[in-house]
Amino acid sequence: MKDQQYLWWQKGLVYQVYPRSFQDSDGDGVGDLKGIIQRLDYLKWLGITAVWVSPIYPSPMADYGYDISDYQGIHPLFGTMEDFDQLLEEVHKRDMKLILDLVPNHTSNEHPWFLESRSSRNNPKRDWYIWEDPKEDGSEPNNWLAVFGGSAWEWDEKTEQYYYHAFLKEQPDLNWRNPEVQQAMFEVMRFWLDKGVDGFRVDVMWHMIKDKQLRDNPPNPNYQPQQSTYEQVIPAYSTDQPEVHDIVAMMREVMNKYDERVLIGEIYLPIHRLVTYYGQDNQGAHLPFNFMLITLDWNARTLTSHIDEYEAAIPEGGWPNWVIGNHDKPRITSRVGQAQAKVAGMLLLTLRGTPTLYYGDELGMRDVPIPPDEVQDPQGLNMPDKNLSRDPARTPMQWDTSENAGFTSGKPWLRLPANYKRVNVEVQKEDPYSFLSFYHRLIKLRQEEPALHVGDYVPVVTDGPLLAFIREHEEKRFLIVLNLSHKPSIFSPKNISYKGKVILATESDLENNRIEGVITMGGDEGLLIQLD
Ligand code: GLC
Ligand code: MG
Repeated sequence: MKDQQYLWWQKGLVYQVYPRSFQDSDGDGVGDLKGIIQRLDYLKWLGITAVWVSPIYPSPMADYGYDISDYQGIHPLFGTMEDFDQLLEEVHKRDMKLILDLVPNHTSNEHPWFLESRSSRNNPKRDWYIWEDPKEDGSEPNNWLAVFGGSAWEWDEKTEQYYYHAFLKEQPDLNWRNPEVQQAMFEVMRFWLDKGVDGFRVDVMWHMIKDKQLRDNPPNPNYQPQQSTYEQVIPAYSTDQPEVHDIVAMMREVMNKYDERVLIGEIYLPIHRLVTYYGQDNQGAHLPFNFMLITLDWNARTLTSHIDEYEAAIPEGGWPNWVIGNHDKPRITSRVGQAQAKVAGMLLLTLRGTPTLYYGDELGMRDVPIPPDEVQDPQGLNMPDKNLSRDPARTPMQWDTSENAGFTSGKPWLRLPANYKRVNVEVQKEDPYSFLSFYHRLIKLRQEEPALHVGDYVPVVTDGPLLAFIREHEEKRFLIVLNLSHKPSIFSPKNISYKGKVILATESDLENNRIEGVITMGGDEGLLIQLD
């Protein structure tokens, strides 16, 4: 394939903005669309191709925007539709793309569709949601559990049935077996696509269809008490059903009517299940999000075997992708430490496939401890003893040394860490050895070198805590060697001999050195070597 034949979402990289926390423009302590516009030049400077913005629609905010009460509006907290149109224009002006979050699995319980649906058993929209009679003894229709704790069934006094909610009871699941629901959501997609939005990140894609017979989920024999109560059963019948692929294919059909738009799916599944979301003949999601760098143990052998398995499992014509963090999981720096997070960034940005970065990870931002009385996230509030709050990874972006790191002139909705005066964009941009400067150079290199953004992936056999591979395109070849531990380790590749020059390294004094053969890698060291 010639370089021009690759599409923007294959060559480029995606950056996730959690809009509540990116930039506040009006002093209410919550980020907004005007704020994002103010920071687009930064994203352009960083080398970002596409900005994915978490939900900005009207919402009672039971789940901070993932409970939508109007799919075609903008929450006043974030601004107006004019602000949105301006954001889209400003993004495009800078030759970047805008990806919206689409949450088709469930609405808010305050969405007019649900208000109608729950108003009576014979309302025309009754079947838009999943309503079921109780069992004979009055109990729930089956044993399905909600991700955010407790039963997934909520009793409705008035109409004397239960409705299903995979998340909060304020987030009733739509019935995707109903063609009217399908059409209504495709309308929503067309509304935004017609405006010029470049794609969607589809929330919980693997949840969208549930077993028709509503069979009980099997118990999870490996359940540990510190895990979310949701893990007590295996969601065999409530997620990843065969019929979901028909829905995804229909969504793709909607996208296919437009030029070069991207359909991304949020899917937490093992590799062999994940890749089925590429769909028959690649007519499913363009990018079924690959969360391996988030979910796997940070161990070179585990990661290597999964990378190789993933590479082999991707269907012909399918495009890989990698995600290092998001608004639901602890930040990479908190998981693996600051020094190792640089190595992780290097891995993310040199693997084959579209990388998705989470705002602030490019600064090495850490999870911020949130005192119990300031916890906002319903997942944290509902299961207080399990340490599941997602707030620590959602704190305001750290821009500069001024009060509240330049995020807001008011009281931020979540607190900032004490170290923001050191860990911020302004300070790090000036420091050539900072985390941000490292990321910036890495991104630039990736964007400049076809071998790094579209080249082939060739595994390099090594051992211990080291992970190595080659990326190659036409005549150019890069060897990437990463030490995933804090201890030095000897790199002695088994299937290649090599000679080259270090182009980029976690310790920049190694750069420009000639290098070959067996070498000692320092702890937390990563090398990108251009081969002769
Ligand atoms: C997805 C979102 C998460 C949200 C959930 C329910 O997993 O990423 O933030 O709470 O869906 O919509
Ligand atoms: Mg605001």
